[in-house]
Amino acid sequence: MPSSSLIDSTLLICMQCKTPLQAAHQAYQCSECERLYDAGKAQDIPLPIAFFEEPKQVYADAYLGFYRAYKHFDQKAVQLTEGLKKSGRKKELLPVLKAFKDNQKYFTRFAEALAPSVDLPTLLEKAGKNAGQKYGYDFNYLERDWSQQPRAQLEISNLMSIVQKAVKHCSGEHAVVLGAGMGRLATELKAHHKQVTAIENSLGQIAQFYALLQQPNHFWRVNTINTRKDNDLLKKVNLQIPKALLADAKSVDYIWADACNSPLADRSVDVLYSIYFSDVVPLTKLLAESKRLLTEGGCFVHLGPLHYHFSDITQHYSLETFCAQLVQHGFVLQHQSEHEPVNIDDEGLQRSQQYFNALIVAKYDSAQDQHAEDKSSVTESS
Ligand SMILES: C[S@@+](CC[C@H](N)C(=O)[O-])C[C@H]1O[C@@H](n2cnc3c(N)ncnc32)[C@H](O)[C@@H]1O
Ligand SMILES: [Zn+2]
Repeated sequence: MPSSSLIDSTLLICMQCKTPLQAAHQAYQCSECERLYDAGKAQDIPLPIAFFEEPKQVYADAYLGFYRAYKHFDQKAVQLTEGLKKSGRKKELLPVLKAFKDNQKYFTRFAEALAPSVDLPTLLEKAGKNAGQKYGYDFNYLERDWSQQPRAQLEISNLMSIVQKAVKHCSGEHAVVLGAGMGRLATELKAHHKQVTAIENSLGQIAQFYALLQQPNHFWRVNTINTRKDNDLLKKVNLQIPKALLADAKSVDYIWADACNSPLADRSVDVLYSIYFSDVVPLTKLLAESKRLLTEGGCFVHLGPLHYHFSDITQHYSLETFCAQLVQHGFVLQHQSEHEPVNIDDEGLQRSQQYFNALIVAKYDSAQDQHAEDKSSVTESS
């Protein structure tokens, strides 16, 4: 069994008592409260160390995500097998059946790898409630990050050219990528920062990234509507970390944690990248954690839409108020611009709504923050 990769970092603190953590054998242990942080057991895919209050819950979530993705393709395969008993279209549809089974195998492998880490009662409880991770099982980010197809490459290079504008304002050795998904952007950012830490709470995505670090893989896109030729029914999507990026991809420190409650030490981060992430968590949480992590003068970089993926509308800020909130929390705006959306998979959404990507760069200034806090307490008490 391959071992989990220990994060090459001295920046971790115990989530319970905030003491700096020490690396023990394939794990971290707190010398003060003795809490142990370790990785689950997996068959052939290395797993990251779990930095959560309740690791049982997050393993069950991840397992359910893979199980549901597997079940989706399993059902497609069963339906098509039935249909083919009566249909004369075997020649063009048998390869489709094979693609469904292949996709099913893609996810089964991850579910099986995770199974030894999953606590059965927790899993049953979650399954009954229809819980489970929602990101990372639809192939979209995987395809964008690691398929190297022209449209995917274009999206990455468009995104990175916008990020370049931020990098001009924010140098610094240690960068953190929040909600880092399949890892491509964190990997690209290694060109600009000596140390890049990626934080992600979906084990599903980290496990797929770790598996790709070991060897290439593939999945199939099946499309049965609006096809011109039978050949358009199927597209094989090869997945590989480009050789030129492999060393950078391997050197990203990947932390499996809640980006709003991570084990990184206070004031340990020079640049914090919130790329396609600021609209997945409430801004109050994001800003509180950003202020804790950033060094004095450290940079917060937002890039993406404000498409809010949570239901609390009191935290659905317009771009204007988003910026005002940053200022109120002690950030000094350095740059603000808007950019055409670059998503490869969401053209309909882009046409149907006002959809824009904003880039905001802001520096943290604790003196200004103190000022803002004083002002708000005066307003509250008056
Ligand atoms: C819209 S996706 C963007 C992914 C990545 N930033 C990119 O652009 O490729 C949002 C990501 O944030 C992750 N995420 C959501 N809530 C999180 C949290 N509280 N902590 C860490 N990651 C989170 C999701 O799993 C998902 O990978
Ligand atoms: Zn501790």
